[in-house]
Amino acid sequence: MPTTTSQESRSQKAIRVEDKFGAHNYHPLPVVLEKGEGVFLWDVEGKRYYDFLSAYSAVNQGHCHPRIIDALIDQAKKLTLTSRAFHNDVLGEYEEYIANYFGYDKVLPMNTGAEAVETAMKLARKWGYDKKGIPANEARIIVCRNNFHGRTIAIISASTDTDSRGGFGPFTPGIDIIPYDNIPALQRALEHPHVAAFMVEPIQGEAGVMVPHEGYLKQAFEACKARNVLFMADEVQTGIARTGKMLACDHEGVRPDVLILGKAISGGVLPVSAVLADDEIMLVIKPGQHGSTFGGNPLACRVAMVALEVVKDEKLADNAQRLGELFRAEMNKLVKEFGFVKLVRGKGLLNAVIIEPRADGRTAWELCLLLAQNGLLAKPTHGDIIRFAPPLTITEEQLMACCAIIHKSVQEFA
Ligand SMILES: Cc1ncc(COP(=O)(O)O)c(C=O)c1O
Repeated sequence: MPTTTSQESRSQKAIRVEDKFGAHNYHPLPVVLEKGEGVFLWDVEGKRYYDFLSAYSAVNQGHCHPRIIDALIDQAKKLTLTSRAFHNDVLGEYEEYIANYFGYDKVLPMNTGAEAVETAMKLARKWGYDKKGIPANEARIIVCRNNFHGRTIAIISASTDTDSRGGFGPFTPGIDIIPYDNIPALQRALEHPHVAAFMVEPIQGEAGVMVPHEGYLKQAFEACKARNVLFMADEVQTGIARTGKMLACDHEGVRPDVLILGKAISGGVLPVSAVLADDEIMLVIKPGQHGSTFGGNPLACRVAMVALEVVKDEKLADNAQRLGELFRAEMNKLVKEFGFVKLVRGKGLLNAVIIEPRADGRTAWELCLLLAQNGLLAKPTHGDIIRFAPPLTITEEQLMACCAIIHKSVQEFA
């Protein structure tokens, strides 16, 4: 049992114990949460916050959505895991549901976003050899600078982030990194005859909500088609209504050859991810060539079906679209009022505000501490960017209350 000191608060104790016994691979804000409901979180001292991170867009449906939690409990009492050594009575139902939902022939179920990305990379290579005729071990995958696809070895091999990569080599070969939002660079990279796939985030979330120019996805898709290269969209963060459409690719009418999803498929209840593709691509993977003990487990499948139903029933994409415009309009008022608030960018309810560091050295981190003090949780990234991504169930009234909190905090920061 961890030791306690007499005067420390529950928060201090939780932070101290995490620090002592947990690996130091994160740097969280000093807030200890114990309860969530809808757009709200409560810390162990009972303070209520608006959640403006939504677990990096995994909780689009709001915390502990009653329909999703009911599904979880019902299924947990019946059957949770069988492995894929046997069939279970929920997997096929889920596969049909999600394949029809996104309009693909098939799904390959996994758990985390990184696993789904790895799956897509394997699928691309196998397709490259079996269907495109790329010579053995020569397949290449094109990715973009400043991407974030996860942190496994193959994925950091495709990363340009020094924190993710530094000290973790040697890296996986067969990856070409080009600038994001740059069609000529993509066209040049596609000239290599051994390219199997181009993998891209429709908006680069972790990079700080980098929105490419309008038409980029469509042009990139067409450039891939001209070279018989798979267009693989990593919609782990942008998918499931976050940007105001079910998929961010929908804004440009692009249907990816391979669609990678995670996070909000389960409404933040369980790790559930998925790779979707048509038969021509998906069936290159044969029994034994890929899998996961937990992938496609009945608990995850049941939860995911209900979580996806909630997205449609509650029209979360429309809400994200409408309130996203309102949010950016409100943030643009801050940009006009305060010189150090540089700009707001985003789509739907995936937005970022750039905060110029103050002369005394205070950065977006200190502003996030003020936001937390004032009852709103958001996390800085890259020193000067704050991402604002509330659950998509947020109402207009709640959003305006949050804009008032942000305004107050920015004023205090100034
Ligand atoms: C676009 C994108 N892909 C993949 C991942 C990795 O997902 P996970 O953390 O579930 O492995 C993330 C996580 O933030 C992401 O934003």
